[in-house]
Amino acid sequence: MKHVIGIIGYGGMAGHHHDILKNYDRAYIKGVFDVNPERLKVAEKQGLTAYSSKEELLSDPEIDLVLIAATNEVHMPLAIEAMAAGKNVICEKPVTVTSEELQKIMDASEKYGKVFTIDQNRRTNRDFVLMKRKVEEGLIGEPYVIESRVEGSRGMPTGWRTIKELGGGMMLDWGVHLIDQLMYMIDEKVTNVFCKMYKIQYPEVDDNFRLTMTFESGLTAHIEVSTNNYITHPRWYVLGKTGTLQIDDWNCDGRIVRCTDKEDVWAEEIVYTKAGPTKTMAPRNENSTETITISEPLDVIDDLTVVYDQFIDAVEGKAELTIKPEQAMRVMKVMEAAFESDEKGIAVQTQI
Ligand SMILES: NC(=O)c1ccc[n+]([C@@H]2O[C@H](COP(=O)([O-])OP(=O)(O)OC[C@H]3O[C@@H](n4cnc5c(N)ncnc54)[C@H](O)[C@@H]3O)[C@@H](O)[C@H]2O)c1
Repeated sequence: MKHVIGIIGYGGMAGHHHDILKNYDRAYIKGVFDVNPERLKVAEKQGLTAYSSKEELLSDPEIDLVLIAATNEVHMPLAIEAMAAGKNVICEKPVTVTSEELQKIMDASEKYGKVFTIDQNRRTNRDFVLMKRKVEEGLIGEPYVIESRVEGSRGMPTGWRTIKELGGGMMLDWGVHLIDQLMYMIDEKVTNVFCKMYKIQYPEVDDNFRLTMTFESGLTAHIEVSTNNYITHPRWYVLGKTGTLQIDDWNCDGRIVRCTDKEDVWAEEIVYTKAGPTKTMAPRNENSTETITISEPLDVIDDLTVVYDQFIDAVEGKAELTIKPEQAMRVMKVMEAAFESDEKGIAVQTQI
């Protein structure tokens, strides 16, 4: 039996859910509610039921799953109302705008006995999985710095993303994904958060930011989200104790260069190089490293059905959620520490 989904908030991302789920065998989208009547017309043209209110959608007994894909500031009340109406809920990211709001959702999930999960769909992005696999295979030794960047030069899209009280800004938009990826990969507490945010184009919200989070072992992660970079960095750059990994872009083109022979014999005298007289930065013997080309892991399924599978498995009692509210809570707390760090101009000590 297929599960039946109702969507509250039928904008761009909800349309993407609709496209992806057209051929999904475990659930289908029956209908939507949106406060914008134009979006209801679009839904109707696509063969979906357009409900005249969220109450009407929530009282449809056929619907057992609700996707919340409205703007961020209304995720909390909508999610709680849907669970109170007996529905299991999947919510778009960022799950909420504050950790207090998320706590209220978690309390409601417990109270009404309903499953609540979040669309942290970038855990299966191939660039991320490739980086994670290669680091975990030990190819560069113990990692001590991971740099994750997402960069564009077109500024931020207009609309709610530029408005603070609607949950705008790049930290809540992209930061939430990039932090989630690293906290999912690294099973350690975050003990220090430092963040600098920039308002290049819009006065209210961070349209660019640079975040450094330090894990308990000392491993540091640098996350940058930019909308104003005309020359970009690699998507991933990871330093391990015996090698370096780089993944250039979303195509996953990349390489590992690792040490095969530690050059510990130093010249007696200064060495004259392009960098000037230096021993430290002199070129190394090229036979003392090896280069491994890495490429897109085509075996990885990277679409929203993975997120729905874990949701539906939990609804059917077959398995625990893999995208848990408790994990989203940790990410939310790191983002709150990042806002505090930026506001006060300090590094914030944490135990997250
Ligand atoms: N997981 C991802 O990769 C990803 C990508 C893009 C957007 N998102 C998330 O999806 C959500 C929607 O983003 P979008 O880009 O589709 O924005 P959008 O502006 O295209 O759509 C939002 C829709 O919500 C509707 N809405 C607002 N308040 C409502 C309410 N109270 N009840 C019903 N409808 C309401 C708006 O009318 C609009 O149609 C956001 O939370 C965003 O962060 C996630």
